[in-house]
Amino acid sequence: MNKRLVIITGSNRGLGKALVDVFVREGTEDIIVGISRTYVEQSSPRYVDVGADLSSIEGCESVLLMLGQLIERDAFEQVILFNNAGRLGEVVPSFQASPYDIAQTIFVNQTAPMILQNGLLSIGSSQNVAVEIVNLLSGAALKAYDGWGAYCASKAGLLMATQVLGTEINLHQLPAKVWGFAPGVVDTEMQTTLRTLDSSQFSQVERFQCLFAEGQLRSPASVATFLYQAVGNPQFENGGFYDIRSF
Ligand SMILES: NC(=O)c1ccc[n+]([C@@H]2O[C@H](COP(=O)([O-])OP(=O)(O)OC[C@H]3O[C@@H](n4cnc5c(N)ncnc54)[C@H](OP(=O)(O)O)[C@@H]3O)[C@@H](O)[C@H]2O)c1
Repeated sequence: MNKRLVIITGSNRGLGKALVDVFVREGTEDIIVGISRTYVEQSSPRYVDVGADLSSIEGCESVLLMLGQLIERDAFEQVILFNNAGRLGEVVPSFQASPYDIAQTIFVNQTAPMILQNGLLSIGSSQNVAVEIVNLLSGAALKAYDGWGAYCASKAGLLMATQVLGTEINLHQLPAKVWGFAPGVVDTEMQTTLRTLDSSQFSQVERFQCLFAEGQLRSPASVATFLYQAVGNPQFENGGFYDIRSF
């Protein structure tokens, strides 16, 4: 198996934590880097925990500096990036959203993934390492949900950025692949937060409460296992957008 560096943003809980766990367990040759603002306990010597705030250019640049040094030091054949960190932001009608919350949500969900994917492509081409990027999207990239203005906009923006980069990878024949993935409704803190909202904040809160009560949420571990098997699989094409509900 190739010696891979696997980078997972938003690694301390939810889907990101489940991705760390599956790569540590199954990817016996992989080195795994987890990035979030909160330390995550993980005893594997193949795991590196990085504390960083991805809501600023400086935070993203410090992460890229560290990753560049790591890739230069070690002979990786492939780098995989899961742009997974995300925030729902304040759930209010979009005309009432605060400037700070709009800016933070769009930065973490769209700008930071774009900065990180560009940085890794540049490191990959200078170090001769193939790069695969998986951008965590959502059905909200295509469908308007009231109260989720910045979240929907950021996921739609990241979907377009994925498609543009995919086109450019083909055009410039880069040794890279980028694709987007919607994980369905996953049992994480993001969903717990949603269910506590009032219907005046989010008209569909009852639907999400019912999905939970009926046991219809996917476990983070099952989605992480799906993604573990999907990377490197040619079925997931450069520039594509895949929804777990179609499989
Ligand atoms: N759960 C779902 O039903 C669902 C559905 C569709 C799409 N998704 C997408 O799947 C991804 C994972 O979602 P999840 O449900 O696992 O979310 P979650 O439980 O809320 O976890 C979010 C992760 O992002 C990190 N994060 C947030 N702000 C950050 C910042 N400024 N800098 C660095 N890290 C930051 C958090 O760590 P810290 O706060 O410690 O930094 C945490 O690890 C997200 O992109 C989400 O939009 C989820």
